[in-house]
Amino acid sequence: MDKKHQLIKGFSKQSKSAKLEWVANNYTADADATVTDMKGFWHTDEKLQKVLDGFSENTISNYVMPYGIAPNFIINDKVYAIPMVIEESSVVAAAASAAKYWSDKGGFKAEILGTKKVGQVHFSWKGESEKLFQHFEAIKKVFYHDTAPITRNMQKRGGGILDIELLDYTDIEPNYFQIRATFETCDSMGANFINSVLEAFGQSLKMYVIEHDDFQNEEEELEVIMAILSNFTPECLVRASVECPLEAFDIEGEDNSTFAKKFEKAVRIARLDPYRATTHNKGIFNGIDAVILATANDFRAIEACGHAYAARDGQYRSLSQCEIKDGVFRFWLDIPLAVGTVGGLTSLHPLAKRTLEILGNPSAEELMQIIAVVGLAQNFAALRSLVTTGIQKGHMKMHLQNILNHLEATDTESEQVLQYFSDKTVSFTAVREYLQSLRKALV
Ligand code: MEV
Repeated sequence: MDKKHQLIKGFSKQSKSAKLEWVANNYTADADATVTDMKGFWHTDEKLQKVLDGFSENTISNYVMPYGIAPNFIINDKVYAIPMVIEESSVVAAAASAAKYWSDKGGFKAEILGTKKVGQVHFSWKGESEKLFQHFEAIKKVFYHDTAPITRNMQKRGGGILDIELLDYTDIEPNYFQIRATFETCDSMGANFINSVLEAFGQSLKMYVIEHDDFQNEEEELEVIMAILSNFTPECLVRASVECPLEAFDIEGEDNSTFAKKFEKAVRIARLDPYRATTHNKGIFNGIDAVILATANDFRAIEACGHAYAARDGQYRSLSQCEIKDGVFRFWLDIPLAVGTVGGLTSLHPLAKRTLEILGNPSAEELMQIIAVVGLAQNFAALRSLVTTGIQKGHMKMHLQNILNHLEATDTESEQVLQYFSDKTVSFTAVREYLQSLRKALV
């Protein structure tokens, strides 16, 4: 069917049903089926649906993701069952298996290495740079004074502005200066707080130059370009780790020391080669993103920061590290994670609220530790498979259910297929052919 795609005015003002019908009629082959599919995911509880619609704009449906649990995580001697929202079939199983594996070896350890967040006001100054620096102590006082109404509550909670610096970048860009501030935002991710403070800094800077006697008619020399937090937070850092004596390794069919050395080599390869590092870190983010999503934190910010951190010395490298020393295997992950357990969607999204409850209503610091551990566990599980059986065996077993759903297998057929493939390599074609043979036998 050849349909004409037209521009539309006032789309956002239309009702949800009208938007859905317009998209279905203009962009899909079977409008009725599209409407039915999309409406099939509307929540029956209208109040709840309104909450979900409020998170975005121009909503026509809800996009559903599986919400799973990885139990048996021991982190700093506390047991957790960890919610994970992810669509890749083997991820939760891998996390759960790594959690169980380490549970009789002391579990995971995690520690906070820092909680500083960063924000910047980028501006041009065509006047004398010395003058700005001479006045900066006074300007800082004005910044603290003018932002007091915004920072008061955060200060009561133990946070606020930690430091404000003036940086001269005129060597890389003409007239380019920066105000860089660091913040403690306690249990909130802090994006709104930081951005409000930074925008106020921008205004205060302009007023200072307009009002101060030393700056006569120099307001034209100043242009505030933008004020925004930085998602690169290398000092909002957490370390997750595991360790055990080599002889404690009990990987089926593997010699302890050979396994450990191969594992260490695999991590070293990911530190050296960016192609491998990208896949290695993707595996870490399989776990991290799943918990970030389950807690309604900002996965784009977490990913952007993690990858920038992985490239902090100029080459993109593995985020995790491994060493074998004096007969002890150590595997750890340092990762910046700017997350919140209050504010944002964490308390608005009904399932995020449940996630936090399942995790024991953690502080942001405890959540950082949990998330880093899941990343490390995921990485351990992936490397354990990669250096032993290979990834496809487990992966395709988990994917088998998707194939069965796609081929519309009945419960009885599924049981027979699962039984048949318990000791065979799974592939889409192999499953389809076996299913066809079962169906033919019945005719
Ligand atoms: C697949 O989603 C993730 C892995 O590729 C990670 C890795 O290779 O380390 C298995």
